Amino acid sequence: MDNIFFVLSGEHPTLPCAELRSVLDAESFNYTLLDKMHQVVRLRVDESALPVIDARCGLTRAGCLEIALMEPNLERISRTLRRLSFDSVLRKGDRIAARVIRLGRVSGEKIERLEEEIGTAAVSNIPGLNVDLRKPQVLLIGVLAEEFFILGARKGPLPKKGFFERRPRKRPFFHATVMSVKLSRCMVNLARPRDDDLVLDPFCGTGSILLEAGLMGFRVAGGDVKRRMVVGCAENLRHFDLDPALVLHDARQTPFRIADVIVTDPPYGRAATTMGLASCEILRAFFQEASRLLMKGRHICLAYPQGSKLKEIGLESGFALIESHLLYVHSSLTREIAVFCKG
Ligand SMILES: C[S@@+](CC[C@H](N)C(=O)[O-])C[C@H]1O[C@@H](n2cnc3c(N)ncnc32)[C@H](O)[C@@H]1O
Repeated sequence: MDNIFFVLSGEHPTLPCAELRSVLDAESFNYTLLDKMHQVVRLRVDESALPVIDARCGLTRAGCLEIALMEPNLERISRTLRRLSFDSVLRKGDRIAARVIRLGRVSGEKIERLEEEIGTAAVSNIPGLNVDLRKPQVLLIGVLAEEFFILGARKGPLPKKGFFERRPRKRPFFHATVMSVKLSRCMVNLARPRDDDLVLDPFCGTGSILLEAGLMGFRVAGGDVKRRMVVGCAENLRHFDLDPALVLHDARQTPFRIADVIVTDPPYGRAATTMGLASCEILRAFFQEASRLLMKGRHICLAYPQGSKLKEIGLESGFALIESHLLYVHSSLTREIAVFCKG
């Protein structure tokens, strides 16, 4: 086990950490949460968790093996850096670069000075290191916040997640109800799929959720009551070389016989059609179908407007609410991102 820290996205107060923990659970890593400070989470976990989190999490920016945690006082940081032995993370001949991420109100000047000092401290401690800012083998990452400074190391550059290239307007088929790339990925992870699980989205729309699940390597299936959506969703997924099982269906009675996890964004009668039905009627029937499709202990993650009877409806169908996060969209819509487990 190693001390590892992850820098989380500041886009939401609870979802990034919840996503990280769901992935560690799904991938069966044993871990202890050491600390959660600002946008940094410190864990005791095996180093092999790092590439897995890089590959899966949408709301985690960087993961590193921890070298030192200290107060954010520049003079003290300099003194500590000079005393540090980097030999647990660096070897003679490694090509390194130092990068500092600032969180909160920290000035840019401090960042440049710190990057230089980290590089100098490493080079003078380990003979034969080469600084290579373009293609480093090991990236030394410092995180400077108002309350702390933490230093770590990771093999290779920060992961490129391709969110920008996959944004909704870049896909062949677009609809106003589309969900953002990062939220879709985060919701898939909150449902805790593993191995070659089948991820089902019975209200698939343009396919944002299935796209992220498919790109993470899961099997994907979905459906929509609108033919236009099914065709558009297929087009979007094929654009990214995915081959989903899609059907034109009513999610209240779907032809699918089984799913490992369900991740979905049901309609609630504003931008997306409910085909004239009351939204809670659709939700109730959906939960009953979900209960038929899922094995005990497996999860549903869904997004729904805050203030609806989501928890009660889930409970009636034999599901337990295991976590819930509120996400402000605009003055008349706050979404609840809820995770249910089949009892
Ligand atoms: C909020 S949208 C989903 C958007 C999707 N997450 C995306 O990123 O594009 C809900 C979808 O549910 C579909 N829908 C409405 N009633 C349905 C039903 N009874 N069965 C299946 N799909 C339904 C709508 O046509 C709409 O495409």
